[in-house]
Amino acid sequence: MSGAVRTILPVVLAFWPATAGAQQAAAPPPALVAADLRPGTDLTGQWHYSIDPYRAGIRGFHGETPNASERRWAEVDVPATLARDRAALFEFDMAAAPVATLPGGWMTHAPEMRHYQGLVWYQRHFTAAPTAGKRQFLRFGAVNYRARVYLNGVEVGGHEGGFTPFAIEVTGRVRGGDNQVTVAVDSTVDATSVPPPVTDWENYGGITRDVRLLETAATFVDDAWVRLTRTGRIAVDARLNGGAAAGAPVRLTIAALGLTLSGRTDAEGRWHAEAPPPRRLARWSPDSPRLYDVAVEAGEDRWRDRVGFRTIERRGRDILLNGRPVFLRGVSLHEEEFGGAPARAITPAAARALLAEAKTGLHANFVRLAHYPHGEVTTRLADEMGLLVWSEVPVYWLIAWDNPATLAAARAMLAENIVRDRNRAAIAIWSIANETPDSPARNAFLGALADDVRRLDDTRLLGAALLTRRSEEGGHPVMTMDDPLATRLDVMGINTYNGWYTADRLADVPAIGWRVPADKPLIFSEFGADAKAGFHDTAADPRKFSEEFQRDYYAATLAMAAKIPSLRGLSPWILKDFRSPRRQNGWQQGYNRKGLVSETGQRKLAFGVLADFYAGRAAHDGHAR
Ligand code: GCU
Repeated sequence: MSGAVRTILPVVLAFWPATAGAQQAAAPPPALVAADLRPGTDLTGQWHYSIDPYRAGIRGFHGETPNASERRWAEVDVPATLARDRAALFEFDMAAAPVATLPGGWMTHAPEMRHYQGLVWYQRHFTAAPTAGKRQFLRFGAVNYRARVYLNGVEVGGHEGGFTPFAIEVTGRVRGGDNQVTVAVDSTVDATSVPPPVTDWENYGGITRDVRLLETAATFVDDAWVRLTRTGRIAVDARLNGGAAAGAPVRLTIAALGLTLSGRTDAEGRWHAEAPPPRRLARWSPDSPRLYDVAVEAGEDRWRDRVGFRTIERRGRDILLNGRPVFLRGVSLHEEEFGGAPARAITPAAARALLAEAKTGLHANFVRLAHYPHGEVTTRLADEMGLLVWSEVPVYWLIAWDNPATLAAARAMLAENIVRDRNRAAIAIWSIANETPDSPARNAFLGALADDVRRLDDTRLLGAALLTRRSEEGGHPVMTMDDPLATRLDVMGINTYNGWYTADRLADVPAIGWRVPADKPLIFSEFGADAKAGFHDTAADPRKFSEEFQRDYYAATLAMAAKIPSLRGLSPWILKDFRSPRRQNGWQQGYNRKGLVSETGQRKLAFGVLADFYAGRAAHDGHAR
């Protein structure tokens, strides 16, 4: 697809005050990244779709710009044109193409779409009534992997990255009455993408989250970040977008606290203010996830959100939530709903089913949302239900570390993720990588991401899931983590699979030694074993893939973990069996079966082992189960 989508770096620089990017003229920051609560016209529902495996709608047969017979985005009534003009020729007819209900990955649109990867054209019509003097934007929650958007036959913008939102300004292009929107969605990931082509999850191509037409005032509050600083003060940073952004009066209101802060924006339309919190502020925590309605007003525009106030920090090897040590009782999950035919269509009910199984089923206070930003539906629900969150970008396994375009894409995804969710009290950790091999190019790449996190958010912890190396000492295996990246992190995540991907007998696992930096919190960000729900083996040494083996694996690994003094959390792999094309044996059938519950929600024996462990831990720590 066109290189246009790749001029991302200036976008990243634009997200923070000019000082940072002074040497480069910052492009205007992408608009409306954190705008899921803004009222708008819902454009989900019925869309026509048409596959285009050879990208005929993008490149003609010799790579030239396609002519009218291929332009899927054009405004054309094919049957009427053919009736009028016998010589006319169209290689497509979007209005007659099959219909699918969006959002959701295309693999469940029809049986033949199950393994389709490549380009799909989506199109629908909608009625609009744009208000004179106001601005209009098409906002997408997520389109995997690359998107080109057309409105009324004109290309209006695009995006790269399957897990973060983007909004395209269409002021002056939206008509009163009928409009036609077309989206070219290309799920193809290549060696330069983020993530790379080889992962352990299903590459759900499609428009997987909400689509809306938003209308704003000519100048509006594009981004506002309201939080408790590490020094315990309420702070707000707001940025206006529009001709009247500079020197504009602005006001923050938190009615339930009787707090109002007001001021004027600077020459760039930015405003910062701080105040001590009122005495009656109730801090957010998993045990009491108190949220407050907050509003930022500027001119006729009103931005609003529901925000929890809490501090999260590291002191030595402790993680402190509101100044008190906390142990993260967690579980990992993919963005995939329960059911026999998931399509990454996460409704509020689907998100609640997943998080409730973690919170009330496992007694968890923490979830690792792997390996990419999950939808706002999920992160908002974590706020509401009281679950701390590990949020990450899909810098996974083998990335093109020395490719500047890949770095730019990763930086944009990270910035979009942070700006989208930095008002979520639930989010405790921004993670920048998963299981990436140490090398100078990798360290430079991840170093840039680490700097971006520090610049964009000084109130949360920086983490990554790291690899270890194994040695034998005194007849016992010893796992050593000496990844140089750890020095940049607040929290070290380690993925460990001793006894599953190694030949260790489970009885020997508790004795495995660990050599890790002692002065930093360690989280076992992954450990797990596959089990096919319902497959039982009551032998003394149960076979792999049986529920009994998984049960015993958990018991052994928890015993091993309990011996590590700096361990401050766990997010076992994984809550639910999930689709993975890598997994094709008789028990797996296209699923990674490391779930503690099956894809349809059937709990396995190991579920009880972890739930009991967490209940005990919660009681020990004086927390609600
Ligand atoms: C890895 C990886 C996961 C994968 C898991 C597994 O650690 O991070 O994405 O699914 O192991 O092998 O099951």
